[in-house]
Amino acid sequence: MPPEHPTTLVRAPQQDTAAEATAVAHPNIALIKYWGKRDERLVLPRVDSLSMTLDVFPTTTRVRLARGAVQDTVVLDGHPAEDGAARRVTAFLDLVRERAGRVERAVVDSQNTVPTGAGLASSASGFAALAVAAAAAYGLSPDATALSRLARRGSGSACRSVFGGFAIWHAGSDSGTTAEADLSSHAEPVPTGDLDPALVIAVVDAGPKAVSSRAAMRRTVDTSPLYEPWAVSSERDLTEMRAALLAGDIEAVGEIAERNALGMHATMLAARPAVRYLAPATLTVLDRVLRLRQDGVAAYATMDAGPNVKVLCRRTDAEGVAEAVRDAVPDGSVLVAGPGPGARLLPGGGR
Ligand code: DP6
Repeated sequence: MPPEHPTTLVRAPQQDTAAEATAVAHPNIALIKYWGKRDERLVLPRVDSLSMTLDVFPTTTRVRLARGAVQDTVVLDGHPAEDGAARRVTAFLDLVRERAGRVERAVVDSQNTVPTGAGLASSASGFAALAVAAAAAYGLSPDATALSRLARRGSGSACRSVFGGFAIWHAGSDSGTTAEADLSSHAEPVPTGDLDPALVIAVVDAGPKAVSSRAAMRRTVDTSPLYEPWAVSSERDLTEMRAALLAGDIEAVGEIAERNALGMHATMLAARPAVRYLAPATLTVLDRVLRLRQDGVAAYATMDAGPNVKVLCRRTDAEGVAEAVRDAVPDGSVLVAGPGPGARLLPGGGR
C-alpha cells in the first residue's frame, strides 16, 4: 500500500544521517475543548478547539534507531512502558516509518515532568515531543503544519502543542476525500491582542484517571443526549473566543473558557453510564474561583479529563489567585504557568 500522504512529510536529503534525535514539548490546556472524534483511526475531531501551550511540565523524548532490533523499546520516566502505552508508541512509529520508507525499530526514552494520565495533558506534550523526535530520527523534515498533523495521530491534543502560545486546532473539512480531511485537520497559532495571561494549576489529585479521555469521549459521543447541543454551542464559543483573544479581553476569554469546559463536563455527566471526573475538591476550588470574581478578580476555571482545575487570570493576579486556591487543596499542590514555547528539537539532536 502506498503511503497515505506522500507529500505531507518530506524526506531529508541525507536520509541516513539522523539516527538519533531528542525533542522537548510542553502540555497545552484547551480553553475551547476537543471532545469527541468523527474518525477514530485518523483522530479527526468533531469540533474545533483552542488552547494555550504552557511553560511548565515539559516532556523530553529521545528516539534512537536500533538497527537489527526486532521490536521497539519504550521507556517512560526510566521504566519500561506498560503494554498499552508501548503499543500506542509503536503504532505511532509505524506511521513515521511508513512515511519515511524505513523499517528500523527504535528505542524511545521519554521523561515527563507532569504526572502521566492525570488530566494534565501528558499525552499532548508526550506525542508532540515524540512526533518531532521520531520525524528527525527517521530522516523526515516536516514543516510545523505537517508535524501538527502527525502529532494528532498520536493524541489529538498533541497537535496543538507543536505550537507555542495560543493555538487553534481546525477540525478539518469533510467535503472531500478522507485524505483531504486528514490534511485539513491541524493546529496553527492564533493571533492575540494585549494579553498577559496565567493559568494557576490546582493539582487536586495527581493519580491516573479511572477512565481514559479516549474512552470517555467515545462514550459521550455515543450515548450523551447533551453532546450534539454542546458541539453546536462550542463552535459559537470558538468564534467569540477568537474575538476576545484578539481584543485582549481576559474577562471574555475566561467566561467563554469556563462555560465551554462546564458544558463539556455536562455532556459526560449525561453519558450512559456517566463519566464524572470532577471530585469534591474540584468543586471547592470552583467555589473559591467564584468568590475571587465576586471580589473583583478576573479568575475563571477550566477542567479536563480529571479533577484538577486550571484557573485563568491576569499574570499580575496569579500569585493572589494561587494563594486563594491553595488552602482549598490542602493535600494537593498549586503552581502558576504562563504561555510556553512550541515543540522543538534539542540542538545536536538530529544525530
Ligand atoms: C479533555 O488528546 O488526550 O483534554 O485524541 O484520544 O488521545 P486522544 O485524546 P486527548 O483528549 C484531550 C481532551 C481534553 C480536552 C482538550 O485537550 O482539548
